Amino acid sequence: MHEHSLKTTFRVYDAADELPPADQVLLAQAQEARASSYSPYSHFRVGAAVLLANGEILGSSNYENASYPMCICAEQSVLAAASSHFPGVPVLAIAVTVQNPKHKIDQPAAPCGACRQVIYETEQKNRQTIRVLMQGETGPVYVFEKGRDLLPLAFGGNFL
Ligand code: THU
Repeated sequence: MHEHSLKTTFRVYDAADELPPADQVLLAQAQEARASSYSPYSHFRVGAAVLLANGEILGSSNYENASYPMCICAEQSVLAAASSHFPGVPVLAIAVTVQNPKHKIDQPAAPCGACRQVIYETEQKNRQTIRVLMQGETGPVYVFEKGRDLLPLAFGGNFL
């Protein structure tokens, strides 16, 4: 028997204005995208923006449905849009921001498990790691160098 441990390192910026300028732009695009959130059931608004290797930035938001399991997360929406509009162009970074009208969220809400799986799939597909930035409505920004860092022991196509 061997014991293994998993270690993840990420950077914490105390506020968005401490980020490098390009990351500030990406986060601002995610905030702008959040405004389009269709979330009449949860009222939880999520915006995501991706930076592509060709310099394009795309934004999207969560898209809910009265049949709750069909709700589409912002991260999945924007990654699908990137793959559709720019097939083969690697995603370099994704920024995610959330808002709850009931109380101000001042800490990052990390992507859900399903979104981590989709971020990882995109890394595998494009052979390119994706930096993941996350922020609440305000407050600190967490930056992970790779989506994979959010999904230890990831399941991927290599098993199939
Ligand atoms: N949501 C996202 O858009 N991304 C996540 O990573 C977690 C959850 C959305 C789905 C649903 O519309 C709402 O947030 C509440 O779960």
